[in-house]
Amino acid sequence: MASITLKSLTKRWGNFIGVQSFDLEIQDKEFLVLLGPSGCGKTTTMRMVAGLEEVSEGEIWIGDQMVNDLEPKDRDIAMVFQSYGLYPNMTVYENIRFPLKIRGIPKDEHHERVKRASAMVELDDFLQRRPKALSGGQRQRVALARAIVREPTVFLMDEPLSNLDAKLRVSTRAQIKNLQHELATTTIYVTHDQIEAMTLADRVVVMEKGIVQQVGTPKEIYNRPENLFVAGFMGTPAMNLIEGVLDSGTFTAKNTEINGLPNTQNGPVTLGFRAEDASLVEGRAKGQIAGPIYAFELLGDSSMVTLRTGKGMSTVKADKDFSSDIGEAISINVPASICHLFDTQTGLRIDA
Ligand SMILES: Nc1ncnc2c1ncn2[C@@H]1O[C@H](COP(=O)(O)OP(=O)(O)OP(=O)(O)O)[C@@H](O)[C@H]1O
Ligand SMILES: [Mg+2]
Repeated sequence: MASITLKSLTKRWGNFIGVQSFDLEIQDKEFLVLLGPSGCGKTTTMRMVAGLEEVSEGEIWIGDQMVNDLEPKDRDIAMVFQSYGLYPNMTVYENIRFPLKIRGIPKDEHHERVKRASAMVELDDFLQRRPKALSGGQRQRVALARAIVREPTVFLMDEPLSNLDAKLRVSTRAQIKNLQHELATTTIYVTHDQIEAMTLADRVVVMEKGIVQQVGTPKEIYNRPENLFVAGFMGTPAMNLIEGVLDSGTFTAKNTEINGLPNTQNGPVTLGFRAEDASLVEGRAKGQIAGPIYAFELLGDSSMVTLRTGKGMSTVKADKDFSSDIGEAISINVPASICHLFDTQTGLRIDA
């Protein structure tokens, strides 16, 4: 069991900065998710923690030990990669057992530990098969079992579900969540899928271009994005964002007027609201934002209605029975209480 501390962790290749001044304390037994678009530095951060990538600046601590100069094998970390990295000529049993062999764990412990790890990921019936005779999801579970069997201090998982189809992802995701609860091992998990981040994490770190944008629980990040990047990244659909002007608590933009906002900062701001917080009103003049209907998508339990509002689009969640014609004039009810405000220039959240 251990905490992990990153102090001004930085990775540079020549002039290019892959990860910049990353500071974070990860609690013992915490499930931490690194989330961000492709190329934002997630894998690089993970590889530095594992010792597979040299640190340019800063420190990595595991528990009360600074590990910058420790070999990967001495860090007591187990990694699960996107590509499973299984040995094709070994059976599932031997694949799972392999880390015990190379680490010199006494032989008489192997069988019991392999059985325990394989039972946790429900692979008991497949132990004598070779990887090529398994489905993608089963192979992924072998990779997980091979990490579990070591009983490491830290798990690092880099997009372990990205090779699975949508349905298998959801069930394997639940399995990983349950496993982490049972094993109570500090875990760093990398994904670019924000639903995965929301469902799995104790805390999420949102990254962009090598820089940490926000650290918080999934709820904090969803309910209170600190800047425009996080606001636009978290949530499906993403938060509606409208550029306009704030003056004495009134926001105006094309076809938009919202009163009763905090009278904090006058000038160019970006107003945000979530599709599920707003509602549609029949008729053009009744809501705070007006526009013709651009698209209508039935999701099953609800529908998403997109309006053309001024320069951009705004999407509102509506009842599954909602029906209307494309082009019809309609408006959205956007009370001040559901609005988020951001400084358009700096992108930073404006607080009341
Ligand atoms: N060996 C290297 N030399 C130079 N640049 C590198 C090297 N390895 C990675 N990079 C760059 O560092 C940045 C971060 O890469 P990284 O692999 O950490 O991204 P990522 O967040 O894991 O993205 P993805 O979601 O696509 O896996 C990228 O722009 C990448 O091109
Ligand atoms: Mg990556």
